[in-house]
Order: sequence, then structure tokens, then C-alpha cells
Amino acid sequence: MALYLLLPTVFLLCLLFPPCMPLTVGTETEAEALLELKRQLKDPLNVLDSWKETADRSPCNFFGVACDRISGKVIGISLDNKSLSGEISPAIGVLDSLATLSLPCNNITGKLPAQLTRCANLKTLNLTGNKMVGAIPDLSALGKLEILDLSTNSFSAAFPSWVGNLTALNSLGLGENEFDEGEIPEGLGNLTNLTWLHLGNSQFRGEIPESVYKMKALETLDMSKNKLSGKLSNSIFQLQKLNKIELFQNNLTGEIPPGLANLTLLREFDFSSNKFHGKLPSEMGNLKNLVVFQLFRNNFSGEFPAGFGDMKHLVAISIYENRFSGDFPTNFGRFSPLESIDISENQFSGGFPRFLCENGGLQFLLALGNNFSGELPDSYVRCKSLERLRVNQNRLSGKIPAEFWSLPYATMIDFSDNDFSGEISPSIGFSTSLNQLKLENNGFSGYLPQLGNLSNLERLYLSGNKFSGEIPSEIGALKQLSSLHLEHNSLTGSVPSELGYCVKLVDVNLASNSLTGNIPRTLSLISSLNSLNLSQNNLTGLIPETLVKLKLSSIDLSGNQLSGRVPSDLLTIGGDKAFDGNKGLCIDQYSRTRTNSGMNMCTEKPNQKKVLENKLVLFSIIALALVAVFAGLLLVSHKNFKLGEAVDRENNLEAGKEKDLKWKLASFHQLEIDADDICDLKEENLIGSGSTGKVYRIDLKKGRGTVAVKQLWKGDGMKLLTAEMDILGKIRHRNILKLYACSANGGSSVLVFEYMANGNLFQALHRDIKSGEPELDWCQRYTIALGAARGIAYLHHDCSPAIIHRDIKSTNILLDDDYEAKVADFGVAKIAESSQKGCDYSSLAGTHGYIAPELAYTAKVNEKCDVYSFGVVLLELVTGRRPVEEDYGEGKDIVYWVSTHLSDREAVVKILDDKVAHECVEDDMIKVLKVAVLCTTKLPSLRPTMRDVIKMLTAADPCTFRSGNNTCNDENVKDFSPSTDELSLLAVAS
Ligand SMILES: *[C@@H]1O[C@H](CO)[C@@H](O)[C@H](O)[C@H]1NC(C)=O
Ligand SMILES: *[C@@H]1O[C@H](CO)[C@@H](O)[C@H](O)[C@H]1NC(C)=O
Repeated sequence: MALYLLLPTVFLLCLLFPPCMPLTVGTETEAEALLELKRQLKDPLNVLDSWKETADRSPCNFFGVACDRISGKVIGISLDNKSLSGEISPAIGVLDSLATLSLPCNNITGKLPAQLTRCANLKTLNLTGNKMVGAIPDLSALGKLEILDLSTNSFSAAFPSWVGNLTALNSLGLGENEFDEGEIPEGLGNLTNLTWLHLGNSQFRGEIPESVYKMKALETLDMSKNKLSGKLSNSIFQLQKLNKIELFQNNLTGEIPPGLANLTLLREFDFSSNKFHGKLPSEMGNLKNLVVFQLFRNNFSGEFPAGFGDMKHLVAISIYENRFSGDFPTNFGRFSPLESIDISENQFSGGFPRFLCENGGLQFLLALGNNFSGELPDSYVRCKSLERLRVNQNRLSGKIPAEFWSLPYATMIDFSDNDFSGEISPSIGFSTSLNQLKLENNGFSGYLPQLGNLSNLERLYLSGNKFSGEIPSEIGALKQLSSLHLEHNSLTGSVPSELGYCVKLVDVNLASNSLTGNIPRTLSLISSLNSLNLSQNNLTGLIPETLVKLKLSSIDLSGNQLSGRVPSDLLTIGGDKAFDGNKGLCIDQYSRTRTNSGMNMCTEKPNQKKVLENKLVLFSIIALALVAVFAGLLLVSHKNFKLGEAVDRENNLEAGKEKDLKWKLASFHQLEIDADDICDLKEENLIGSGSTGKVYRIDLKKGRGTVAVKQLWKGDGMKLLTAEMDILGKIRHRNILKLYACSANGGSSVLVFEYMANGNLFQALHRDIKSGEPELDWCQRYTIALGAARGIAYLHHDCSPAIIHRDIKSTNILLDDDYEAKVADFGVAKIAESSQKGCDYSSLAGTHGYIAPELAYTAKVNEKCDVYSFGVVLLELVTGRRPVEEDYGEGKDIVYWVSTHLSDREAVVKILDDKVAHECVEDDMIKVLKVAVLCTTKLPSLRPTMRDVIKMLTAADPCTFRSGNNTCNDENVKDFSPSTDELSLLAVAS
């Protein structure tokens, strides 16, 4: 009754003193506090429907609320995983009998209200798995707290070291938050009742304090994913109750203290990814309760304790990337329900362990990169549970028993780089889950088996064996196949035209066999094909003109007996080398621009052309029919390509922990990239930092080469990622930087590119080899200019719709080992609309000194803006100057500066970079200068197209017909001397 009278007053107060905070009035019932709590929460699943004003005004029937039977007061609120968001209201402080507040696994945001300290009876506070922020208020007044779990939130500020005062605690979880970096507080050791401690990923550095080992009740100790360093103290033997210890991903060093072997209750053990070394104490073999044992990525050496062979509960073990040696315990797996084992990349030797699958449950068997020798034991014939089998890079030999090949659940079989012999049994046809079959570099022989049933097969690597006979036409049934490597075998017969039905192929290598017949035209149907190597065979006939439709980035047809014309686009992609050793091949007059190739010039024979045309017509009809049939398939494949594929972490049994790292693999050369390879971007590997992100050099493990990884700045990252991904995913050209993969994971996005050993053009231009001697001579500069021009021309003219780069500059032109130019950084590039008018862009992209003048007054961007920027790059190449320098004058740039030096030849010669200009190339340089001046013409319509640019540049070639030394060839000088006309043109253009 009293309440009814009071209510109007409350409302009045609210009106007078907003915001309304009933708590301050101190007169509300618990029901009202709960309603206030509900008001601050968002409840999309309406689980709080029962939270409403009722006649009896009791909250005890509210869903998830528990009351004391006698006093009727609220003692518990438990709402686990109910999709609640919003914030926890300070009204919670009203509930002074509350013993349990458990709201785990929701989406609750905001701060933890300090009013919670008024709930002096609180025993359980579980808010794990929310999105709460800010500092955790000091809760040390809650002396009755037994369970405090605030892990997996976004709490920040200093680690709450006052938790050491909560001596009643038995469970403490603060891991997976965003605390400031700091040390583990000494006071933690007071928590002698603690059985469960989760401090993973809490930004701890320094050593583990001795006091931690005083928590003798501990059963679970998780300090993983910190930066803890130093040695592990032998005092750890005091934690006798420990059954789970997680110290992975720290910087811990030293040997494993022998005391650890006394912790016989241990079931789960993870010390992986630290810097531990030395021998594993052999007493570790007495930890008979072990279920999971992980030590991978450390520096352990010596023998692996034999006692592990007697274990009865071991399910998973992963010790890869250490230096263990000697025999592997003979009985390993004999008595345990082993499901996964990864002992890869150690130095184990002797016979291959035979009991790993003794109990029939082995799914992952990874033992690659050791020195195991002898045969694979027969016992594995019964091991049908295998999903992943990798014993590659050992010295295993002998035949593989026929039944072994049929593994119904296997997604990967990898026997590569051993000395196996014999045939692949036809029973492999039962391994229908197979995704990768890798047998390369062994002594396998016989015919290739029928693989038509393996409809999930994506990678087939059989190279470097002694396979003979024909490539079965059934290969066309492998609709998922993306990589086919059959090189270096003794295969005969023709390249089956059915190969063209493998519509997802990216990478085909059939080199160094004895294949005969024509190159099947059906290959042109494989729209995703990127790399084609048919070299060193006996192929005959013409190169199908239709191959140019593919967006190949590499082609090699050398060492065959092909004849006829080399399509000029293919010549651009592969260079002369790709066609060497085919006596009958010829090239068109106009494609003879790059080097003095040994190839013949084609003589046009009209008759022959007629025949060809007829054939083409016929083929077109067939192709059309095929296209109709496959259009659907292609569409599907294109879609999949765009979505990319998930690449799992090959080696790691821990894979589950990183499942969320999804990979989008651009359709380029099959480059195996582990998520792990690029997770760990270290500052010492930083090679550059630009407007869109930081770039790191990463050496892939196992000698898979080097890549560049760009980590996009947070914020705009996703947008730029999508832009770059969208564009680079679609285009391929030898002068465009290749994108291998990209990944968006949580807040950070990364792109994986081919690595460019020589950095960017700007750097190279301003680098000296010896003092005074420039890294790039004129011939190299010219070649780079032409390469870059080809790349940009491809964007403008061969991509439909055209792509405008919008940020062409010397720092965005990268150089590979051979100084081949690659246009990079598509972060701001745009797809031009089909309309010729150009398109409006709200944001101005580009870099000062390179931006076309019209962009100052119009937002219309078209290809000519790139042409302008490219002209500036040419000016840099010719003059060796930077686009903006102080001595050009206030607000002036290189274009202006050059324009003031075109009055006569003498003035022009003065601005040529004297580091590279000498008599022989002076005229060539002036020709390029002329192109540059045209490109930087003020009026966009007067600028040449990139196609014109290439033509003009080609005429200024200093490298052809010249043997690299600097002596002038009189004839050439005469040929290339610009006429007075040309010089006057220069003046006009400016
Ligand atoms: C939290 O919110 C996100 C979207 O904001 C949603 O995807 C997720 O499922 C939510 N989680 C829970 C536990 O409700
Ligand atoms: C907190 O709640 C989650 C979800 O129910 C549970 O898994 C976890 O064990 C709880 N924390 C503690 C310390 O009991």
C-alpha cells in the first residue's frame, strides 16, 4: 500500500531530476529493480516476457530468477546463452540477497556497475562470453565470492590485482580480455582454495611468480597466450591436484622441471609454441592419465620417453616441430584410444611405429619430415578410420599394400618424397572423400588408376614417378580438381580432351613426359586456368588460338614439336622461353618487340589461313555447344572461386582453436599457405608501410618460398580488402602483382601477395650499387617502364569493364628478382562504368605530384588520369628526380619543372638523369621524355591511351640489338636520332 502512495512522488522526482534512477530513491522493491534491469537489456528472443508487473508484485516467477523460499528475496539470476544484449543496470545493487548472477554467453555490453558491490552475498558471478568493456570495478568487498568468471569479454585497464583478496574463490576466470600489459600479481598466491584458474590471453609478461605454486588446490591452470618468459620452477610439483595445464603460446624457456612428472593426475598438457629445450624427463612417461599431450613448436631434443607407449588414455598427441630423435616408442598407441598423432618435423628414425591405429580410431596420422625408413607396416591396412595421412618426406620404401589405398574417410593421402615403389591399387577408387592425393617424387610405377570416383579430389600430385601409359580420360570426371601435376613421368598418348571438363583447374603441369598429339582446344574452356605447363613432350600441331581467352599468368609449351603462329598474347604472358625448342613455331612481325628471339617470323600464307578459319568455324560450333552445356558449371565454379575455400592448418591438431580463420584463396598457383605462417607478423619482418597498411615479408615454412603479407589498417581495412580482393581476384597479368590469398579475421584483414625482392621502383631509382653507380641503368629503367605500361594497358583495355588504378606512382610499381615491373596496390582502384563519360567518385584518391590536374575541378575519373600519373613516373625515370622537390618552386611539380626545360636540345639534355645518360642512350631517353610529356598534357583528351604509350615506348627501345655494353653502334644511333621535328613536338606538347 505504502508503495502506491509513494509512486507519484517517484515520478515527480524523475521529472525533476532526470535521468530517472529509482535506485537513488531507495524505495523500490526487488521486482522493480529487475524490471529496470530488463529495461536496460535487449531481449530479441523475448526470454524475459515473464518479467512484468504482476498482481502479487513478486519476481519469484520471473524466468531465470530464483528466490529464497523463506524470505522471498531474490537470490539468483541465471540466463545462460539467451542472446541478451544491452547493459547491466546499476539497479542490480538493490538485490542484496543475490548469491548468483550468471549471464554467460550473451551479448551484453557496457561496464560492470560498481553498485554490484552492494550485493554482499554474491557467491557466483559469471559473465563470461559477453562484450563488456571498461575497467572492472573493485569487487574485493564481495568476500563470499566463490566463482568469479569474467573471461572472454573486452574489459580493459589494469589487471584487477585485488582478486588476490577474494580468498573464498574456487574458480577465477579473467582470461581473454584486453587488460594492459603487466605481470601476474604476486597476491594471486593467496587464493589457496582455487581449483580453476583461467588467465589465458591476458597480456601478461615476465615470469610466473613463485606464489602461483602455493595454490595447491589447483586442478586447472591456464596461462596460455601471454608473453610469459623465464623458466618454469620445479616448485610446480606442489600442484599435486593439477589435471590440466595450459601454457601454450608464451616465451617460456629452459627444460621441463622434473617435478612436473610427479603430477600424476595430469590429463591435459599443452606447452606448445614456447621456447622450451632439452630432453623430456623420461619420468614424463609415467603420467599415465594423459589424454591430450601437446608440445609442438619448441626446441626439445633427444629421445621421446618410452613410457608413452604404455599409456591407456591418450587420445591426441602433437609434438611436431621439435628436434626429437631416435626410435619412436615401439608400443605407442598399442593400449590407447589414439585418434590423432602429429610427430612431424622431428628427426625420428628407424622403423615406422606399427601400433598407432591398434585400437581402430586413428583419424590423423601425421609423421612427415622425419627419417623413418623401411616399409609402412601392414597393420595399417585395417585402419579405415584415417582422415588425414601424411608420411611424406621420410625414407620409407617398398610397396604400399593394395587394401591400404582404400580409405573411405581420408581427405588427404600424402606419401610424397619417399622411396615407395609399386602401383597405386585400383582400390583407391573407394577413397571417395579424397581431396588431396600427393605421391610425388617416389618410384611409383604402372598405369594411372581410374580416379573417376574421386569426385572431391582437388589436388593430384603424381609428378616425379615412373607412371606410364595414358592419362585416363576419366580425369574429366574430377569436377573439383584445381591442381594437376603429372610432370616427370613416362606418360604416353595424348592430352585427353576431357581435361577441359575439369572446370576448376587452376594449375596444370604435364611437362617432361612423352605425350603426343595436339593440344586439345577444350583447354580453353577452363576459365579458371592460370598456369599451363606442357613443356618437354612430343606435342604437335598448332597452338589453339582460343587459349588467349584464358587469363593465364604462366604458360610453358617449350620443347615440343608444335608449329604455326604463336598467339601474340601468349607470347606476352610466357615470353620466348615458353615456346623454345619448337622448330615449327613462328611469331608475327609486330609481336617481335621484346628481345631478339630465335623464333622465325611467320610468313602469311593465305591458303593456310583459310583452312585455319574453316577449322575455327567448325570449332566455334562445337565450342558453342560445349559452352552451353558448361555454362552452368562455369557459373558455379566462378561463384566458388569468389567465395574462396577454407584452407585448414595442415599440421596442427589444435586446428579447432583457429577454425575461425577463414581463407579466401585467390585462384592463383596453388601455394599452400598455413594460417599459422602469416598469423605471426613480426615487426622485424616489416618491409613497408603505406596508406592502406603495413607490409611484411614472410618466409613460408618448409621452403615454400617467400610472400609479402599486407595487414590493412583497421577501420577502412574491410572496405579496402574487398576492393583489392575484388579487383585482383579477377585479373591476371605478368605485370600486375599477384594476389595469393586473403583473410579477414575479426578486426584485422590481411592480403598475401607474391614477394618482390627488389622493392619498389622509387626505392630502386634512388639506390646506388656502389657510390655513384645507380642500381638501374637506362635499359633497365626502360624495361620497367614498358612492363608497367603493359600492366596498366591491360587494366584499361583488356579488362571489361576497364579498371582505373587511380594511384599509379613509382612506389606502387614493384620489382621482382629480374626487375620485372608489377603494378600493385589496388586499394583505391575502381571499375569504370561502361559509359565513356567516366564516373563520379566522392573520394579523391591518388598521391600529390601524380594527380591529374583535372581532378582539381572535377570528380570525374577516367583512364586518362592513370595515363597522367604514369607520365609522371616516366619523368622520374628519365630525370631521376622526385615528383615534388623544393627547387621546382612553391607549389610546383616535376611536370612544371620539365616543361620549363624543353626550349632546345641542350636544355633537354640537361634534365636527363646524368647517372644513366650517356651518348648511346641519350636519344632513347629523349624519346621516352617525349612520351612522358604527352602523357602529362593538361587536357585529358590530348593524352595518349596506354596502348599508344606502349607503341611509342616500343619505338624507343634501347635494349634490343644491343649486347649490354655501352659501346655505341653507329647504325643505331643514326636510326634513333630524333629529328628536329620531334623536338619541336616536345615543345608543342608541353
Ligand atoms: C551477438 O551478436 C552478434 C551480432 O551482433 C550475433 O551474430 C551473435 O549471434 C550474438 N551472440 C549471441 C550469443 O547472441
Ligand atoms: C560460467 O558459465 C559458463 C557457461 O555456462 C560455463 O561454461 C563456465 O564453466 C562458468 N564458469 C565457471 C567458473 O563456472
